[in-house]
Amino acid sequence: MPTLLAIQSSPRGDRSVSRNLAAKFIEDWKAQYGGTVVVRDLMKTQLPFVDLPWIAGAYTPAEQHSPEMKEALQISNELTAELLAADHIVIGTAMYNFSIPAILKAYIDHIVRIGVTVTPNYEGLVKGKKATILLASGGLYTPGAHAESYNVATSYLKQILGFIGITDVSVVLAGGTAAVDRGQATLPELLGQFEPAVAQAAKA
Ligand SMILES: Cc1cc2nc3c(=O)[nH]c(=O)nc-3n(C[C@H](O)[C@H](O)[C@H](O)COP(=O)(O)O)c2cc1C
Repeated sequence: MPTLLAIQSSPRGDRSVSRNLAAKFIEDWKAQYGGTVVVRDLMKTQLPFVDLPWIAGAYTPAEQHSPEMKEALQISNELTAELLAADHIVIGTAMYNFSIPAILKAYIDHIVRIGVTVTPNYEGLVKGKKATILLASGGLYTPGAHAESYNVATSYLKQILGFIGITDVSVVLAGGTAAVDRGQATLPELLGQFEPAVAQAAKA
């Protein structure tokens, strides 16, 4: 049975477009594959930034780790094990300042590890997996849109996933969420626009 790892990162709870789309993705994926779903909610994960004991530990053989290094790497070990055990990874994220939220970057800093997810020669070790990015943004960044080139979130996520070995990546650009905040559309109306693309990514 396959495993889906669902990474949620929005602080906006039920009003979050990326959370709602990730929930729909999980539902569709479950209906298709019936496997195991592991939800990693970054808003509920105590995720420190990478610090000196973390860096020292990441470049020191495990048998030589000090208690401080062990502690610093504990969450990273948990997150990398979770990632390596998954067959499909869905990332629900907002666009913040044309890029990704800091909490998701902090997660990435914990899962990109030499000897664990990438070799010392920079070959990705997270092989044979698919990923889907569900990117919610207030504005529109679809091909041909005026602000398309401002979107560095998609290219960055694809690049870093590729770096650790995940090259089969689908992206759903859930743009225009500001319409809901301005009262020009309801949340269900907006979500409905993206549900076919989410369903397609979940079945792929
Ligand atoms: C700090 C912050 C920065 C944002 N930066 C952008 C941005 O650069 N471009 C954009 O289109 N929307 C931006 N937004 C709007 C969010 O992307 C939008 O509200 C999105 O729906 C949030 O995702 P969520 O609904 O899953 O929480 C920003 C919102 C916040 C709170």
